Amino acid sequence: MKPRIKELLSTKPDQQQIQQVTLEGWVRTCRHSGNLCFIEVTDGSCLSGIQVIAESTLKNYAEEIRHLSTGTAVQVVGILVESPAKGQAVEVQAEQLTILGTADPNSYPLQKKRHSFEFLRSISQLRPRTNALGAVARLRSTLHFALHRFLHDQGFLQVHTPIITTSDCEGAGEMFTVTALSDQELQKQNTQDAFAQDFFGRKAGLTVSGQLQAEVYALSHGRVYTFGPTFRAENSNTSRHLAEFWMLEPEMAFCDLHCDMEVAEALIRDAISTVLENCTEDLALFNRFISKGLINKLEIVRDQCFTRMTYSEAVKELEGAKQQFEYPVAWGSDLQAEHERFLCEEIARRPVIVTNYPQTIKPFYMRQNEDGKTVAAMDILLPGIGELVGGSQREERLDILTARMQETGLDLEEYSWYLDLRRYGTVPHAGFGLGFERLIQFVTGMSNIRDVIPFPRTPGNAPC
Ligand code: 4AD
Ligand code: MG
Repeated sequence: MKPRIKELLSTKPDQQQIQQVTLEGWVRTCRHSGNLCFIEVTDGSCLSGIQVIAESTLKNYAEEIRHLSTGTAVQVVGILVESPAKGQAVEVQAEQLTILGTADPNSYPLQKKRHSFEFLRSISQLRPRTNALGAVARLRSTLHFALHRFLHDQGFLQVHTPIITTSDCEGAGEMFTVTALSDQELQKQNTQDAFAQDFFGRKAGLTVSGQLQAEVYALSHGRVYTFGPTFRAENSNTSRHLAEFWMLEPEMAFCDLHCDMEVAEALIRDAISTVLENCTEDLALFNRFISKGLINKLEIVRDQCFTRMTYSEAVKELEGAKQQFEYPVAWGSDLQAEHERFLCEEIARRPVIVTNYPQTIKPFYMRQNEDGKTVAAMDILLPGIGELVGGSQREERLDILTARMQETGLDLEEYSWYLDLRRYGTVPHAGFGLGFERLIQFVTGMSNIRDVIPFPRTPGNAPC
């Protein structure tokens, strides 16, 4: 493989020997001065481009090089030399510059000026070539790898849970239906009967969480995780919700709520530490243009323990707050984003783990506490984001679980496979789900979740 620009930029040119290099990329800017052309070329391997200097003696100078425009794909063969210019260690003196693909400046939408993120969303096929969206893509990949590495190092096994499922894990009725029936077949009969004739012989949908299937493998392999796209047909047009998002879900046998929180906190702090170490150039861009003070905020999360409080304590704090909230606070109702943010931005001034929520606002699988009113749940809240993680210890007692499932109207027959985990060799176990895009939002300071996933899916929006 040929070296990429990131590698070339960190190469110290050999003083004794001429070092010929070949590079391929896209023109970011092109400036003419006398008999020279200064071309900045990028290839996505890092934020910086490399400066290429083309002299008028090159054979296609007058016809092609003089007219190079932003977005043109080029191949350059040249000599890597120390750069006399400020801000760059090396540059390339071109011996040959070939145009691989033109980009008509009259129609190419990415010009040198700054474009709004809203405009860039309308051109998802071109936006990864911009500085900010290009940096998001690199950070996303680094974070993804960091999460896998952390869990791998702790002895977790990755399990690929299904995308098509017949179980609505969260019980919120937000599953997208998957059907092979034609519109007429669906309309002909009442829908329940229609699904009996459908591909799977019953109603199936896109998964909202891989947790229930991950539990199966936690009860055979101890420590597992699933990491993949999840889907929710919730009509929330907010800057923190997607209809398709990626979720990391570790699940651990012989683990209680305390151990669940330990793992989640260590995982988040490790991921942040990894990007602080490895993505300095990209983070500096976000720190400067997107969210002032970002790096400092990340360092605090890396270095300080998260605050822990119970739901009841959180409600007390909120009730005693001087701030007026849009949604009222009362024991028994779910915390809204504004409450979550207040807890970590104003009260704790760092991430907060809220535990022991009322049972009535949480899904059926969470373990009932001694008080009979709350469950062993935990949510991790981050400043500026709100909920990043939702997790719990799972109800491992067959009688209590079946009673709770009946209460919430679940069909025990349909979940018989899940109940088998409690019938045979049940053990205390726990897990959590981390919203990957929300973690990227936190790390980049990007305010809209649609700008941290390559092709966002939201209500009314799935263009390609
Ligand atoms: O809190 P949630 O709904 O938890 C579960 O699905 C559990 N089954 C996870 C588990 O215990 N294995 O979702 C987990 C996280 C949330 O904290 C949030 O960060 C993210 O997933 N999330 C979303 N992210 C983007 N868009 C949405 N519509 C999201 N819904 C949840
Ligand atoms: Mg949640």
